[in-house]
Amino acid sequence: MRTVHSLKELRAILRGYRQQEKTIGLVPTMGNLHEGHISLVRKAAEAADIVITSIFVNPMQFGANEDLDTYPRTLIGDQEKLGTAGNTLVFAPSAEEVYPDGLARHTRIVVPEVSDGHCGASRPGHFEGVATVVSVLFNMIQPDFAVFGEKDFQQLAVIRKMTRDLMMPVEVIGAITIREEDGLAKSSRNSYLSDEERKIAPAIYQELQSTAAKIANGHGDLQVLAKEAGDNLRNAGLRLDYFNIANSQTLKPATPEDSNITLLAAAYLGTTRLIDNISVTR
Ligand code: PAF
Repeated sequence: MRTVHSLKELRAILRGYRQQEKTIGLVPTMGNLHEGHISLVRKAAEAADIVITSIFVNPMQFGANEDLDTYPRTLIGDQEKLGTAGNTLVFAPSAEEVYPDGLARHTRIVVPEVSDGHCGASRPGHFEGVATVVSVLFNMIQPDFAVFGEKDFQQLAVIRKMTRDLMMPVEVIGAITIREEDGLAKSSRNSYLSDEERKIAPAIYQELQSTAAKIANGHGDLQVLAKEAGDNLRNAGLRLDYFNIANSQTLKPATPEDSNITLLAAAYLGTTRLIDNISVTR
């Protein structure tokens, strides 16, 4: 399986695919691939003839005190994993290729409303960085389909809105979250957890599930449930960032009238920030 690093080389290959009228599916990643990413590649392969996985640790979406420098860069291992998953091509551009004039001078995409709250509140500028890099990747690759994990629920909402608002001719496909046996959502950041932290981590999904069950059964005030769930996570040993109950479409706080509800949580174990979500219809 081939890996290309430059846009020029990528475009030459893409021309060939287009001449053969092949459809193209894109799986944007930051590398350090795990089964969750591989499931995105498989999903893309169901929809498209050609699957391109991009691997780019996007500096624009990291805050000043976040893990940009330590984020695992594992290109060789990633290439091996993709080789058996139905991927056609890896695109691994440099920061200069993606941001030729530098980060500070690059055009940015702001996606209003769905970027607010949740991770948008705790990580200012994060979704601007995500929307910008995804729009650059869309323009570089011009895929017919692009697959993103539902684990990053707010990110998926931001990308769907951006694609709609900017009339981008890309079909955005969401893929279900892949979990460890104990329920912990697969994430590149799980590799940061100590043995002790790893034992505590599944509490996030357990709390999401038990709160979702209460909502589905019509129990209780939503804001009280959110507060109780947050307290339970603190008691389990996590440092809570948020536990929110939101309208699945707008991501604004859910009201008693909403029938499609998503519970979103983010919490730290040590310096590792984990996120997860669950949706419930009632
Ligand atoms: O979900 C991710 O890994 C990243 O946010 C993405 C979509 C590849 C953009 O850098």
